[in-house]
Amino acid sequence: MGKLANDIPKTLATGKPIQARLKTDERVLVRITEGIYRQPSSALRELISNAYDADATQVTILTDAPRFSRIIVRDDGNGLTPEVLENLIEHIGASSKQSKLGTKIGVTNPNDSSRSRRGRKLIGRMGIGLFSVAQLTRHFQIITKTEGSNFRTIADIILNMQSDDG
Ligand SMILES: Nc1ncnc2c1ncn2[C@@H]1O[C@H](COP(=O)(O)OP(=O)(O)OP(=O)(O)O)[C@@H](O)[C@H]1O
Ligand SMILES: [Mg+2]
Repeated sequence: MGKLANDIPKTLATGKPIQARLKTDERVLVRITEGIYRQPSSALRELISNAYDADATQVTILTDAPRFSRIIVRDDGNGLTPEVLENLIEHIGASSKQSKLGTKIGVTNPNDSSRSRRGRKLIGRMGIGLFSVAQLTRHFQIITKTEGSNFRTIADIILNMQSDDG
């Protein structure tokens, strides 16, 4: 477990938010911004795929139509532990679903790492799908809790794209 995953549960006692920088490389950024997620609807597809991989049985999409100023995609899957969240933030473009890490941090099935914990064939491969929301917004939130833990984690994610700087 890295420093970020270690620090997340500590915020329960301190009450102070912590900051981290998203980490990725040029190649991955290009894919996210111009490549495979051109359609805004890709974002919904990716979020629903992630819910599927997390063994969710329900996905609810709530929005303030017809304004669509806010979209909430909620699922009842496994959720993200601090370790899973750390991997998502610090290893964009390297999915734990593709390595032994997935089993180690409880994302994939211990007997078959190509499957979800409950045995679904995994959709995710690249570790960038979540960031397809960059098509819709520069600011999103992950609110998550895992079974048996006594806290939920709120991650405010702000994307400052290089192309936005002009
Ligand atoms: N709804 C969710 N429930 C639980 N874990 C999630 C959820 N969404 C994302 N994750 C975690 O965040 C990681 C990153 O998600 P992301 O969609 O970016 O990549 P991926 O699913 O691994 O691969 P791909 O880029 O092919 O979708 C996932 O591997 C998973 O561990
Ligand atoms: Mg995915």
